[in-house]
Amino acid sequence: MKASSFCHLAAFGAKTILFRQKKPILGTVIVTDKCNLHCRHCSVNNITAVIHPYCQIKAEMQQLYAMGVRILFFCGGETFLWRDGDKTLRDLVIEAKQMGFLIVNVVTNGTFPIDLPEADLILLSLDGDRERHNAIRGNTYDTIMTNIVNATASNICFYMAINRINQDAIRHVCTLAGELPNVRAVSFNFHTPYPDTRALALSREEKTECCRVISEMIDAGAPVFNLKSAFPYLINNSFPTPCHQCVVIENGQVSTCGRCIDVHGLCDECGYFFVAEYTLLFRGNFKIIWEMLHTYLKYI
Ligand SMILES: C[S@@+](CC[C@H](N)C(=O)[O-])C[C@H]1O[C@@H](n2cnc3c(N)ncnc32)[C@H](O)[C@@H]1O
Ligand code: SF4
Ligand code: SF4
Repeated sequence: MKASSFCHLAAFGAKTILFRQKKPILGTVIVTDKCNLHCRHCSVNNITAVIHPYCQIKAEMQQLYAMGVRILFFCGGETFLWRDGDKTLRDLVIEAKQMGFLIVNVVTNGTFPIDLPEADLILLSLDGDRERHNAIRGNTYDTIMTNIVNATASNICFYMAINRINQDAIRHVCTLAGELPNVRAVSFNFHTPYPDTRALALSREEKTECCRVISEMIDAGAPVFNLKSAFPYLINNSFPTPCHQCVVIENGQVSTCGRCIDVHGLCDECGYFFVAEYTLLFRGNFKIIWEMLHTYLKYI
């Protein structure tokens, strides 16, 4: 991360903590909800299957920038399905950088060739070893591995949503993240139980065991892009929700924290690690601040 970006984000953090501000810093643009997969744990794919036009996405990026957002994510649906005429996802990333966003990340299922060297991080969803990943995401594991090896930059971070199917595959994903040259780290979430996927939710005991394994992997040197200090809060769902420093925009509609904010009762069972990490950070949790400085400077 550039020193100037670090200073901007540190100043934002200090002001938010001192003055208890609720201004956003992290924003996500949903470029489409269309997806080539139908993963077992996912409730947000192909609801409209509309690919939003370039002019709309650009206006949404400008809107987020004007709100103060400086860390931008492109998400879907499948982001690599996005195009408008000769414009592709890569053009959106370049445009975001030119607009002044300090960090620009993309979330993808990894089933398309990966040529996004301008992105700071490509969060690539890998949900376990071949057997478990394919049980959740269809027969995609081998394609994804080929795309990772052929990627044009080493800016990939695995993104694993841990659920009842893949909870025993954490070690595999950590080990792979350490072995593949194009992969920088792995970031975890727990399954967030939308009404149609409740059966995949982990119990408190299962979350405890997952956090024990992740901690063990961190201690053994695995590149994990999460904060150990947030684990007790994630296990007990005792972190504050929603995250007021995060916003999502989808087809012109802005939501605080996530699209899921309107699902009744879901925030009480939220499994998204970034929500725990950011809300605790901006409440001034000293251990989280220290660990985040250490971790973010290592991987971005
Ligand atoms: C909705 S997908 C969109 C981007 C892309 N299609 C992908 O799969 O990475 C973004 C991330 O959300 C995760 N996800 C989907 N449903 C979830 C749930 N109920 N709880 C936790 N993570 C979930 C996916 O595994 C993926 O890592
Ligand atoms: S690839 Fe992503 S958007 Fe598509 S179904 Fe899977 S998790 Fe959902
Ligand atoms: S806190 Fe609520 S709105 Fe935010 S990600 Fe979790 S479930 Fe969604």
